[in-house]
Amino acid sequence: MKQTVVVYRSKSGYTKQYAKWIAKALDADLFDGRDIPAGQMKHYETVIYGAGLYTVGVSHLRWARTQLFKYPHQRKVVFVTGLSPDREEIQETIWRKHFREKERRQWGLFYLRGGFDPDRLTVYDRFLIRLLKLKLEQKDSLTSDERGMLVAYQQPTDFTRRGSIEPLVRYVRRESEDRQPSL
Ligand SMILES: Cc1cc2nc3c(=O)[nH]c(=O)nc-3n(C[C@H](O)[C@H](O)[C@H](O)COP(=O)(O)O)c2cc1C
Repeated sequence: MKQTVVVYRSKSGYTKQYAKWIAKALDADLFDGRDIPAGQMKHYETVIYGAGLYTVGVSHLRWARTQLFKYPHQRKVVFVTGLSPDREEIQETIWRKHFREKERRQWGLFYLRGGFDPDRLTVYDRFLIRLLKLKLEQKDSLTSDERGMLVAYQQPTDFTRRGSIEPLVRYVRRESEDRQPSL
């Protein structure tokens, strides 16, 4: 059994793609969050959870808190994928909105740009996207980010890049080295 596990929840595959790249780079086990083996999480030193950002929040974050991150000894890392640009102030807003103060201090948090494909959405998500678009279209003036989001929601868009996982991979490697007992 490996020391690190990557668990993901992915609706249309963008988070899953990142999870696969991360697991390969770190030589980690990889699971879809729907099929994690009961009781196995406690054996890992590092648990990495990846999920998409949806209007209401980070997918299944409450579940991850209680089912994945319940062992105090573990290093906890979350990567969130979304369509928003990956600028620092936007990431800061995401962390503040969806994560508790203690989590922001203790967990490794990473934002990776995902993608959007209208053909891969559920009926419900398609409806939500129409609402989001309507809301943006009704605004008198749009910021450049909002204009970008509006364009991104019109057609298939894929921002996933293998190189984007590098900061997370470096972080996990560094943290693991720090934990090795010195000889
Ligand atoms: C209904 C819906 C709402 C979304 N809301 C947001 C959002 O508020 N912010 C954002 O950055 N991306 C948003 N997105 C984009 C998704 O986060 C992005 O497509 C993500 O990569 C999906 O990952 P997954 O397919 O692996 O679940 C939304 C997408 C959908 C379909």
